[in-house]
Amino acid sequence: MEGLGTTVTQHILRSIGGDNPEAAQEIAGLVGNLLVATKVISTEVNRAGLLDILGLTGQVNVQGEEVQKLDDYANEIIVGHMKTSGQVCVMASEEVEEAIAVTPGYEGNYTLSIDPLDGSSNIDVNVNIGTIFSIHRKVSSGKAGNEADLLQLGRTQVCAGYVVYGSSTMLVYTAGKGVHGFTLDPSIGEFLLSHPDIKMPAKGKIYSINEGNALYWHDNTKRYVDYLKEKDPATKRPYSLRYIGSLVADFHRTLLKGGLFMYPMDYKDPNKPKGKLRLLYEAEPMAYLAEQAGGRASDGTQDIMDIQPTGLHQRVPLYIGSRDDVTLAEKFVKGEA
Ligand code: AHG
Ligand code: MN
Ligand code: MN
Repeated sequence: MEGLGTTVTQHILRSIGGDNPEAAQEIAGLVGNLLVATKVISTEVNRAGLLDILGLTGQVNVQGEEVQKLDDYANEIIVGHMKTSGQVCVMASEEVEEAIAVTPGYEGNYTLSIDPLDGSSNIDVNVNIGTIFSIHRKVSSGKAGNEADLLQLGRTQVCAGYVVYGSSTMLVYTAGKGVHGFTLDPSIGEFLLSHPDIKMPAKGKIYSINEGNALYWHDNTKRYVDYLKEKDPATKRPYSLRYIGSLVADFHRTLLKGGLFMYPMDYKDPNKPKGKLRLLYEAEPMAYLAEQAGGRASDGTQDIMDIQPTGLHQRVPLYIGSRDDVTLAEKFVKGEA
């Protein structure tokens, strides 16, 4: 186990430097730049109540969702900083409809897809929110990246993770060699290794879903949730319900304690038949983390990481968490249980 005091750059170089020293340097540089932006966001989040940065902008984003001021702010900080990071060739952001070009002359070998601020509905009530990121290697020819570079399988991610702004600010990331957590030490402004090699229990006893949508669930989803509520000590049922409403916070708990987070497809909004969460910058990065921690992530029928993206903001149903829980949920969704 690495000693505490390990920085993210040191950890990335040690994790993947042996396989490909040049790629390790590039990815460490990209993540290092991204973390500078998240430190700025963390500072703003921690004093949001004192600034005119809470509340709504009055705009509606490409998702058709009201944009919180902090959504916009986080997007501008990250996109603005990463355009000249020298490691990125093209970006996708929840807050921007089209693919985002980087500053000419600063093109790099990777793509960056981000949810600049996840959990917006919780900003004004001081509940954990976060930034989610997913990194792929550029596949197109030429210097500038394009949409095809962004629409890659989750399985081809080279690095992914999130920063959760909560009681402490934490980075959780994977570069294909396990999942590792770092805590920001505000006194030195550095993320330091605090949770090496996080492993998700094979089976949990917590389920996480917005029960307020029960009226709109498909029958197989209803059957599965009802199953979790039945009494059977041998399978740790009934499960406890925990739902924060920020994917980053609900996933972070699931990663550390096990169980299952679900945002299934439902009949609530005809414009969102596949559920609410986005494949590129929510489901794919979380799926990479889940698999690297020994868990699973499915859309109910197949692994999230095997879904070929067709649009920057496409939505997918998400069942993510402990391996055995996701596998059973899939059986219910497929009508096999
Ligand atoms: P975002 O704030 O980036 O739009 O994401 C919000 C998402 C996700 O964080 C969370 O799991 C989900 O919305 C909660 O949705 P409901 O309020 O419909 O349960
Ligand atoms: Mn989100
Ligand atoms: Mn968001």
